Amino acid sequence: MNINSQNIAFNYEKKTYLINDDVLKKTILPPDCVDLIVTSPPYNVGIDYNSSNDNNAYGKYLEFSRQWIENCFYWAKDESRFLLNIPLDKNKNGVQSVGADITRIAKEAGWLYRSTIVWNEGNISRRTAWGSWISASAPCVIAPVELIIIFYKKNWKKTNGSKISDISKDEFISWTNGLWTFNGESKKRIGHPAPFPRELPKRCIKLFSYVDDIVLDPFCGSGTTMIEAFLNHREFIGIDIDQNYCQLAKKRFLDIVNKEKELL
Ligand SMILES: C[S@@+](CC[C@H](N)C(=O)[O-])C[C@H]1O[C@@H](n2cnc3c(N)ncnc32)[C@H](O)[C@@H]1O
Repeated sequence: MNINSQNIAFNYEKKTYLINDDVLKKTILPPDCVDLIVTSPPYNVGIDYNSSNDNNAYGKYLEFSRQWIENCFYWAKDESRFLLNIPLDKNKNGVQSVGADITRIAKEAGWLYRSTIVWNEGNISRRTAWGSWISASAPCVIAPVELIIIFYKKNWKKTNGSKISDISKDEFISWTNGLWTFNGESKKRIGHPAPFPRELPKRCIKLFSYVDDIVLDPFCGSGTTMIEAFLNHREFIGIDIDQNYCQLAKKRFLDIVNKEKELL
């Protein structure tokens, strides 16, 4: 793997790389080098990340989204897929159709749209904002779901790579139904303000890539995609701007991999 960053925070067996850098630096990676991108970017909902502002004006947030999505397009191979976990809507600090807006931006960057998985996180019990209570004056409707939008670069059909799929029949039947239901991850347990659960990258990796493919998560956070890529025999590149999250991801990866390696 040809990584042009001085900031490699972690390298495991020359197949798993974590880069402590800014996703906006296009030169970090060469063009046409990754098979699958699985990521959850910052949602711009005021989360207290150590090294980045999550409270920008919406226009600035969309411009940031455009820039990193263009970089991913540059780093992607022609047959690569891009699995983008983003909210459907945003309600904090003004209502916005985030899912629709970022889908449009990804298409403008060259990505081709395939379909959308709806992730039912099942957290409706935490609702507090009703708008107007038992009144039509200004009711607030919120779907307790997130999206995993499926894009691809040029060709949907994969003709390159190992051609080895490791998904079971039951997994394939279940996961090709685009309504996924599983719980979110606990911030406290992981020690990161916005981790996704391991189930999310695991499904994306097994359903959309071959064994030995190169997976990229440009917002690697606590290393969830890195762990699932390794345990499922894929190569991996992760990027995160925050040094502490890179250290957390490294520690979490080593703890889990040392525990689960015997099961591989
Ligand atoms: C939603 S979290 C990703 C969490 C990850 N999926 C996990 O399971 O832990 C977004 C991450 O993006 C990182 N980030 C924010 N701006 C960045 C940038 N410009 N370049 C690289 N990483 C960035 C943050 O430090 C944060 O860890």
